[in-house]
Amino acid sequence: MTTTAATSQAGAMAASNIIPSADRPPQRILIECRRLTKSYRKGDNIITPLAELDLLVPEGDFLALMGPSGSGKTTLLNLIAGIDRPTGGQLIIGGTDISTLSRGKLADWRSRQIGYVFQLYNLVPVLTAYENIELPLLLSSMSSAERHDRVRSALQLVGITDRHDHYPRQLSGGQEQRVAIARAIVTDPTIIVGDEPTGDLDQESARAIMELMQRLCNELGKTLIIVTHDAKCAAYARRTLHLEKGRLVADGPAISGSVASQGGN
Ligand SMILES: Nc1ncnc2c1ncn2[C@@H]1O[C@H](COP(=O)(O)OP(=O)(O)OP(=O)(O)O)[C@@H](O)[C@H]1O
Ligand SMILES: [Mg+2]
Repeated sequence: MTTTAATSQAGAMAASNIIPSADRPPQRILIECRRLTKSYRKGDNIITPLAELDLLVPEGDFLALMGPSGSGKTTLLNLIAGIDRPTGGQLIIGGTDISTLSRGKLADWRSRQIGYVFQLYNLVPVLTAYENIELPLLLSSMSSAERHDRVRSALQLVGITDRHDHYPRQLSGGQEQRVAIARAIVTDPTIIVGDEPTGDLDQESARAIMELMQRLCNELGKTLIIVTHDAKCAAYARRTLHLEKGRLVADGPAISGSVASQGGN
């Protein structure tokens, strides 16, 4: 889909908030970007990493975000994750325009709705895998028994239960990223975002991580947005967006998505 088509789709769906589809039941729109813009002033210049972007993301979608370096991928991801704030347009997630929330409310919203997976894992080196995963739950009022259950389930889901007492330095890159994914999902967020989560991994580990991401979408119904430079990783998504100079230049199904989901590629 082109930018123009995406724009008209955004306009057409404003009233119903539902994307009709011939082969799937109607899907609720979870994320709506309307003329979403991010600009910075540097002296006399204005830099605009994201320019009036229109985008609709249905609940349970899996997006791969691609584009050259500097095209605005991280900027878009950080806006959707509530880490950064837009300078123009609207960003409506689950019915709330998050650009209007106060700093405190946005932090609270983020902790409940977003799981963030980074390229370099960002684990705390002095904590074990178990303790790293438990960390976001310590901010909630959850009982220790419930925390324990949640961490155990997350460890199991990402397949590293036997490494629960290992420190990050005792894990491979792929295992560290599994811990980071477990930490991102342990709070049961609606949306999982990843900024090049496979960027530091060998091909086999990268593929295993993308398979795991695909399961989070297919089995748990999570909505995922993953930045990647690798077409093979993007093929695990349901839909690929291409950004160039802060604009959406292409939006369509992942070309070989069915191959990836069948274990080919
Ligand atoms: N705080 C900032 N101040 C000024 N310019 C910024 C700031 N953050 C990002 N930019 C600019 O916005 C543009 C987009 O940056 P962004 O990090 O979103 O790119 P990207 O697509 O993620 O690139 P990469 O693939 O290299 O990670 C770049 O030109 C960058 O220099
Ligand atoms: Mg980036």
